[in-house]
Amino acid sequence: MAKFAVILPAAGSSSRFKDPHYKKPFAPLANRAVWIHSAERFLNRGDVVQVILVIAKADRDDFNFKFASNVAILGIDVVEGGAERGDSVEAALARLKPEAEFVCIHDAARPCLADVWIDRVFEEAQRGGAAILAIPVANTLKRVGPKGRVEETVSRDRLYEAQTPQVFSRKLIVEAYARRGGFAATDDAQLVERLGKPVTIVPGSPVNFKITTREDLRLAEQALKALPKPKLDRPAHPFADDNMWR
Ligand code: CTP
Ligand code: MG
Repeated sequence: MAKFAVILPAAGSSSRFKDPHYKKPFAPLANRAVWIHSAERFLNRGDVVQVILVIAKADRDDFNFKFASNVAILGIDVVEGGAERGDSVEAALARLKPEAEFVCIHDAARPCLADVWIDRVFEEAQRGGAAILAIPVANTLKRVGPKGRVEETVSRDRLYEAQTPQVFSRKLIVEAYARRGGFAATDDAQLVERLGKPVTIVPGSPVNFKITTREDLRLAEQALKALPKPKLDRPAHPFADDNMWR
């Protein structure tokens, strides 16, 4: 069985979340922090050998105070991130266990993830070296100029919205980051595309959305209930409880 390391970037500033008490990965959602929902989907898997949570340096003390026991029980690694999301991922890549053959990068702020989507993107990454969840663009797209005036309608033909998890062979993603330079990528796959390597789409779901605003937390609570059921052949996680898929 191929071995996967999972990187969960949670070192952003949550500026659009605008909550006085919480940054979004640490906000409560259905009885646990958002990041724990995201981490759990991977911790239950036999093919995951490492989970690395990336937090901001400024959040370290508060994080330790609130989550030290979770970190110990879950057996995750915690590293400090950087100014841009790419810097945070890069910090985690430097801490990969030697046995990890593939690297899965998943926004800590996407807690509504189903096991079956992870299965599929892990499988496709093993086949082709790089695979990402994505959904076809459903709405009409407008390019807008000054004063809010529509300049054109952009065809949505073959357009997809990239999500996470994004999964790569270790060699490929390490090389992609080594060649990043000052390039400001908006996702990890873009750095692999720049090397001319194929990246394959695996159908995601609108349910796997990224929490951006505070209102999204309420949506996420509903989305958790709408997820495909977790597989029954996996042992219950010590933190799993009846509320998990409520
Ligand atoms: N992230 C990170 N390090 C950064 C920036 C972002 O680890 N320097 C993480 C976020 O914590 C989040 C994920 O990357 O889990 C996706 O980023 P985004 O949704 O943009 O989160 P924020 O940057 O925190 O939010 P905002 O853009 O509203 O400030
Ligand atoms: Mg951001």
